[in-house]
Amino acid sequence: MQDINGDGQADVTARFGDTIQQGDHGGTGIALYKDALYAETNDRIVRYGLPKDGIMPTGAPETIVSGLPLTGDHPMHPFAIDAKGNLFIDVASATNSCQAQNRMPNVSGDKPCTELETRAGIWRYDANKTDQKFSTTERYATGIRNADGIAMDSTGLGLYAAQQGRDELYENWPKLYNEDQGANLPAEELLQVAQGDDFGWPECYFDNDQQKLVLAPEYGGDGGKTVGVCAQKKGPVAFFPAHWAPNDLMLYNGTQFPSAYNGGAVIAFHGSWNRAPLPQAGYNVVFQPLTDGKASGKYLVFADGFAGGHLDPGQAAHRPSGVASGPDGGFYIADDQHGRIWRVTFNGEKTAGLEPAPAPPQSASSSASSGTAQAQPPEGIHPNAGATTSSLPTPPGQTQEQVALGEQIFHGQKGGTCAGCHGASAKGSPLGPDLTNGKWRWGDGSVPSIAATITKGVPQPKDYRSGMPPMGGAQLTPTDVLALADYIWALNHQNGR
Ligand code: HEC
Repeated sequence: MQDINGDGQADVTARFGDTIQQGDHGGTGIALYKDALYAETNDRIVRYGLPKDGIMPTGAPETIVSGLPLTGDHPMHPFAIDAKGNLFIDVASATNSCQAQNRMPNVSGDKPCTELETRAGIWRYDANKTDQKFSTTERYATGIRNADGIAMDSTGLGLYAAQQGRDELYENWPKLYNEDQGANLPAEELLQVAQGDDFGWPECYFDNDQQKLVLAPEYGGDGGKTVGVCAQKKGPVAFFPAHWAPNDLMLYNGTQFPSAYNGGAVIAFHGSWNRAPLPQAGYNVVFQPLTDGKASGKYLVFADGFAGGHLDPGQAAHRPSGVASGPDGGFYIADDQHGRIWRVTFNGEKTAGLEPAPAPPQSASSSASSGTAQAQPPEGIHPNAGATTSSLPTPPGQTQEQVALGEQIFHGQKGGTCAGCHGASAKGSPLGPDLTNGKWRWGDGSVPSIAATITKGVPQPKDYRSGMPPMGGAQLTPTDVLALADYIWALNHQNGR
């Protein structure tokens, strides 16, 4: 994309490289280095030479590194290149917490976690060398679950990573954690990464209340009291609320913004899917002040309102997913929900202080009957009050009340997590399939077969990267499961279908 006439809008948008039809599944990593564009594609990082007089690559790419792992929960490879030409690649974990059965309740973690040999760390390669092959030997730092954001500081040598913390403390360990803790633990972390560092995954997670690393339940943790091996692991320089999902990181070293922003971190938070029964959160861009590599104050929400009032993975208008600096000292924010890019500029007093974004207005639909999780009080409401289910059919032998109850649970009541993966409209999200189109991977679509799938979960999904825990990870009674099955059946039998 290019803004040729300088009016702040892209006049040129052109495409290069292979398409999905040609087998290219894209990637998240991208960087400029020595007149070349480096990009992630499938299992590799490639380099496109850039012409002297343009920004559109004309030749075929060269492979810098190939053979990066593509399996499991986190197959992407964001990277950063330092001033000496080191190429740092984040290779995220394949699992949530190194369990033999990923994301299943009460399953302990593998000892040792052999996944760490090829995953959950940062690997170092040479950005100037072609045809390098991924292997266990180039690991630079470990114990980093999923650093979607990875960036250099203004010296070009200090490496930072924004890590997405683990999920399902409550869902998989209900004897050790309550719902509130499930929604509010663990912290998302900003890490300062040096060679040989170990940040503790999978044995440890960062407890935002106690402000320290504690032992994970898969490794003998007791709900956050025992520290154990975590005392030897490296903690974050700053931390953020649970499940906000940092997707990108930039350290600001431009001159356009007030000096208070110098050297600080700008983080794009994609937004949560698994804070039910609490409202989903994140969907914003945060600024974290830093001085000499240390937090010099609390983070503030720098830009907000992207979701348009719908803090829900399926319904959000936009979700921040990328940040990048511009040559003029401004920067850009990218959204992956509808493919929008914002340009952020500053033209006030250079002495201005840090200022949080005003809270976005709540859209009328999200506080009424849109069915999003935050529309409902956590203590629950009577199934019939304001329910939108009156237009839904009722399965033979069942009642309208059961369908209504199923809808409430689907959207977060009783800790129901369904909407987080299947979307608020149940029409699917990147984490779970559409449940309204009458097509079934599991069972025949009858109420008993839907109830059976919900009860057992889907440990080995057919089309999705990671599965569905039994009961969707919530604590549900047989009555709740039946109500959910009734509701899902009803969604598939609207208008006489
Ligand atoms: C962590 C994400 C996640 C959560 C939470 C979740 N699901 Fe699922 N669900 C999935 C995945 C993944 C599949 C399997 C898709 C596949 O096989 O490829 C699935 C499958 C299903 C199916 C079968 C669909 C089919 O095609 O046959 C049903 C029904 C279902 N889920 C209902 C629910 C309900 C009800 C809840 C809440 C109690 C829930 N899910 C919670 C991810 C999730």
